[in-house]
Amino acid sequence: MIRNKIDGIRDACLKELGKAVDLQDINAIKIKYLGKNGELTAVLKSIKEVAPSERPAIGKCINEVHEIVDSKISLKESVIKEELEKKRLYDELLDVTLSTQYDGIGALNPLTQIKKDITDIFVHLGFDIKDGPEIEFEYFNFTALNIPKDHPSRNSSDTFYISDKLLLRTQTSAVQVHVMKTHEPPIRIVCPGKVYRPDDDATHSPMFQQIEGLVIDRSVTLRDLKSLLEEFARSFFSSTTKVRFRPSHFPFTEPSVEVDLSCNKCGGSGCNLCKHTGWIELLGAGVVHPRVLKECGLDSNVYKGIAFGIGVERAAMIKYGIHDMRLLFDNDIRILKQFK
Ligand code: DAH
Repeated sequence: MIRNKIDGIRDACLKELGKAVDLQDINAIKIKYLGKNGELTAVLKSIKEVAPSERPAIGKCINEVHEIVDSKISLKESVIKEELEKKRLYDELLDVTLSTQYDGIGALNPLTQIKKDITDIFVHLGFDIKDGPEIEFEYFNFTALNIPKDHPSRNSSDTFYISDKLLLRTQTSAVQVHVMKTHEPPIRIVCPGKVYRPDDDATHSPMFQQIEGLVIDRSVTLRDLKSLLEEFARSFFSSTTKVRFRPSHFPFTEPSVEVDLSCNKCGGSGCNLCKHTGWIELLGAGVVHPRVLKECGLDSNVYKGIAFGIGVERAAMIKYGIHDMRLLFDNDIRILKQFK
């Protein structure tokens, strides 16, 4: 009777073991058969009910089954552990020979790229690159540039003041003054950098970038300015881009001009980008005012200057046909990817 029971327990245990798939199953089987209240343990405890003469044989039988069950459980356990380890290694496998299709590698922001493209063109034309402070003295940003005390651009609604004398520069033209005061002509420089004004809408941002250009030599004229900007426009936009000067006014240049380019999108026939005029305004420029030369210690009878200021965001908007400048600042990966 008890032998049949022992054999039954062994068979049931081995059958369950055959079905076990993970360590939880193995644990459950251990508890069910070999645990403190397990089935084999229970049979062992019931041995006292067996006739004394049969006890040694039954005891031996229980021990054998115990050994078999125990070793089969250990075997199965190690097989499962080995499989788990194999799976872990496989999951963590790196195939270093796989070709990469990953396109998440970054690129320069379009504005950084445009700034570089513009300065590169001027560097090829023999210009040096100069830097200036973003926190500037009122003197360099306004006074030395012949901007009168009552000029509206000096108002706190147009300029971020830090104190009476200090401000966030509103134009990279301020760098002109630093360079003229410290360098002997001839001077050929471009000054890329950030400038600040309290404006914020689709075409204005409180921080934007400009590239100031300055040439000082014994005989530079408006005509040189035109051919220089034509050269630039053809390199930056296209070989057929035309340049047009319109009279304008800046306190630091005389004469002053507003420089328009033939529309890059429609080629001059008129479209929504150029508001159907065929022309797009790109920058301000002019012949450096003799008062500015004098203020910077240069004799205006000997030296002449031409200067220009390019808006980097504006150049990017024109080049790529973008209507809202904020798209360039928003860091929307879908927009930025289009410029890669
Ligand atoms: N500083 C001017 C601005 O921010 C741009 C400019 C106009 C720069 C004429 C120049 C210039 O050097 O000659 O609007």
